[in-house]
Amino acid sequence: METTVNNNDTFYYPSKEIVRHANIKNYEELYSQSIADREGFWAAEAKKLDWYKKWDKVVDDSKKPFYKWFTGGKINIIHNAIDRHLKSATRNKLAIIWEGEPGDLRTFSYHVLNREVSKFANILKSMGARKGEVITIYMPQIPELVIAMLACAKMGAIHSVVYGGFSYEALAERIADSQSRILITADGGFRRGKATHLKSIANEAMKRSGTIEVCITVKRTGEDCYMENDRDFWYQDLMNIPLECKDCGTEIMDAEDALFILYTSGTTGKPKGLVHTHGGYAVYTASTFRNVFDIKPEDRWWCAADPGWVTGHSYLVYGPLLNGATIMMYEGAPNHPYPNRWWQMVEKYGINILYTSPTAIRGLMRFGASWAQRHDLRSLRLLGSVGEPINPEAWKWYHEVIGRGKCPIMDTWWQTETGGFMITPLPIMPLKPGSCAKAYFGNEVGIVDDHGNEVKQGEEGNLVIKNPWPGMARTILHDPERYIEKYWEKYSDKGWYLAGDSARIDEDGYYWIIGRIDDVIKVSGYRLGSAEIESALVSHPAVAEAAAVGLPDDLRGNIIHATVILKEGKVANDKLAEELKNHVENEIGPIARPSHVEFTDALPKTRSGKIMRRVIKARALGLDTGDLTSLEE
Ligand code: PRX
Repeated sequence: METTVNNNDTFYYPSKEIVRHANIKNYEELYSQSIADREGFWAAEAKKLDWYKKWDKVVDDSKKPFYKWFTGGKINIIHNAIDRHLKSATRNKLAIIWEGEPGDLRTFSYHVLNREVSKFANILKSMGARKGEVITIYMPQIPELVIAMLACAKMGAIHSVVYGGFSYEALAERIADSQSRILITADGGFRRGKATHLKSIANEAMKRSGTIEVCITVKRTGEDCYMENDRDFWYQDLMNIPLECKDCGTEIMDAEDALFILYTSGTTGKPKGLVHTHGGYAVYTASTFRNVFDIKPEDRWWCAADPGWVTGHSYLVYGPLLNGATIMMYEGAPNHPYPNRWWQMVEKYGINILYTSPTAIRGLMRFGASWAQRHDLRSLRLLGSVGEPINPEAWKWYHEVIGRGKCPIMDTWWQTETGGFMITPLPIMPLKPGSCAKAYFGNEVGIVDDHGNEVKQGEEGNLVIKNPWPGMARTILHDPERYIEKYWEKYSDKGWYLAGDSARIDEDGYYWIIGRIDDVIKVSGYRLGSAEIESALVSHPAVAEAAAVGLPDDLRGNIIHATVILKEGKVANDKLAEELKNHVENEIGPIARPSHVEFTDALPKTRSGKIMRRVIKARALGLDTGDLTSLEE
């Protein structure tokens, strides 16, 4: 990429080759049109998919903020992600290339993927699964995870994927909240040369939640695990049963029928189950993926996220399959056994587009450029980043070392709630390291103060979206009130969506994300709530009260700092600090493990009793604690 300097910012311009190749060449013009006629834009995007019955209305805003999209339309995302490809040459194309951490390789053409998904959908039905019920999936990164998600969607069930790194407490809570009767899991997976023990965690979770009637376990590691009669079945045994009919009709769904629930952290201790739909979500992920990553039939796409998070749902699974793309999927850690593991796979499989997180980039950068330089990375054309702000040094390293100075980086800003990219570059745009560029089509972004006034250019403000979009989460499962309160109440007079991030806009109209304005902590791009970590801490018998904050960290973006008040008679020491770290890890999962535990006698609180995390954070960083007039203690 050529570079020129503009207003003290270095712009990185795409090469002629990238521009020639791009699906979208005229962003400004198309963007203006999409804003002038939002419904027209989304109707045109929706027409690129196959509908069993066309919609009556593009967007129904009669019950704001509970928008409905493509009402009256009949669709199934699987009909678009698999079935329709079987009628073209895509049938023979690879849908998934999967490599396990030990190096085992499996591939699935669209034809084979359809066979596996159909078989498993039939098995789910024979196990009593019904349209509209929630099925929980708790798996390592193996192809069966994707097959299970697709099979649920095909037969009309709603999948709820719980990240395989979560503990039994976290899993049990999510199973109980969604009242799942069916759990799909695995004996374990491989991570850094070791086998994980997912089935034993699942067994514990099933004991606690008490709702699971059927548990299907994929054999991956071959580890011994407890299987209960009449409840537990091996996936492979079921798949070997010669079903009378291996074909399975794809269920015809209303556009607004739920496709999945995904739990995410918020400001209270209880994770929120965000609900996404078949119609709008399919239109949104198909459109954003096609335009932002410029996908072409010959491309090999690698999204290195775990399907347990929204990035995996939208851009490992649905967006690419809707576009008939070839997906690369890898089970293990990026630096196992050596820090060249990813680069080896880019070379071996000829990956064209790589999408990952700033944390992963910083982690690999630590080992130096030589690990990447020993591989032929010339197949790479585009790169992507997601999950947290990417610092310019990491951006430049990614661009220079991995992208050989030639691959534009799509720094995509979005959330579990948004379903897909909201602010993002397109390949034709000049880029600025650390900025996620401009709004995606149809979206109007505002950076505003607490009263809803636009802040001045360059100033920090609350990021809002001023319009509905098809990929938006429709509600929080069982808690529509919380959906309103969290996202729509603050600017209810204007009807804007509050994202929970602060940001600024520069003189070129480029957006820069600063970070969360609420008590959400991003550790290695994973989203955790202060309150979740605090409830885990106070569930320990020695703890009376606790506060958790995120402190900046060069590698992980943030690390967790916990401040703890012990119960009478308990003694603060290093051993107990270690025990508390382990306790949080057991309660939530390794990603939530605090890096520091500090003991104290009092927490800074407002007169109304709210913990002032801002003060704790400033003190931990040795900074000025700011205005303390509202402090009680
Ligand atoms: O703070 C923003 C950050 O991740 C949050 C959403 O987290 P989650 O729902 O887990 O989804 C992550 C993957 C989409 C946002 O509120 N975030 C996400 N992408 C970016 C980002 N921050 C800066 N730049 C990004 N590209």
